[in-house]
Amino acid sequence: MQLILMGLPGAGKGTQAEKINEKFNIPHISTGDMFRLAIKEGTELGKKAKMYLDEGALVPDEVTNGIVEDRLSKEDCKDGFLLDGFPRTIPQAKTLQKITTKLNQNLDYVIHVEVPEEKLLERLTGRRVCPTCGTTYHVVYNPPKEEGICDKDGSTLIQRDDDTVETVQKRLAVNIEQTKPLLDFYEEQGILVTVNGDQAIDKVFEEIQTKINK
Ligand code: AP5
Ligand code: MG
Ligand code: ZN
Repeated sequence: MQLILMGLPGAGKGTQAEKINEKFNIPHISTGDMFRLAIKEGTELGKKAKMYLDEGALVPDEVTNGIVEDRLSKEDCKDGFLLDGFPRTIPQAKTLQKITTKLNQNLDYVIHVEVPEEKLLERLTGRRVCPTCGTTYHVVYNPPKEEGICDKDGSTLIQRDDDTVETVQKRLAVNIEQTKPLLDFYEEQGILVTVNGDQAIDKVFEEIQTKINK
């Protein structure tokens, strides 16, 4: 199964990706996670990407497209993949088409997780992540059993550098502008499914499963 998860910052792409990955066992490919890892490791890619992530801007397509092509060409993507946060622009979507054609793959569904814009700031400023295993929490909506501590490995949870009010506002503005043409692009191809992301995490996941099992 070849899936794309789309949605504004904070819509719940990463949260749903964890569940889809557990259930369907397809690799979760998040361009945001790849950039953050590269920044942490101080690689060339990290140096190129850092400024953009800090500002809440998009990393240039030529950088982003290259890392996605490399990743999708790996053996573990042969039977399927779950893209999270890519594509975000029409040129990225067209590049993805070329990559999948070359690899003899077809996109099954583009899952748009829709959440009213006014809810997203609170979701992002309340987000906490585990630096060790990557699990995502929310101080109100999805709290760990013990405040500030990862349920799975006991690590101290952190906030993402780009989850400040100022940077969130920039990320939202950038992504709102890019999203509509992409939704139209996939709607025309007949593979867009929209799910209501403004309900409990498990309900969102149920709706995704119902819609992709049809
Ligand atoms: P990326 O890491 O993809 O960030 P984003 O798109 O801003 O999305 P988020 O990861 O913030 O949100 P999410 O939808 O995953 O929500 P989550 O599940 O965590 O990208 C970061 C940066 O990298 C970009 O700004 C850009 O610079 C660069 N980049 C990445 N891809 C790029 C590309 N293709 N091209 C160019 N640049 C690129 O949930 C959020 C919070 O809400 C959590 O606390 C969670 O617990 C909670 N929550 C989730 N679901 C629910 C629910 N149903 N109800 C209540 N709370 C919920
Ligand atoms: Mg995410
Ligand atoms: Zn953890």
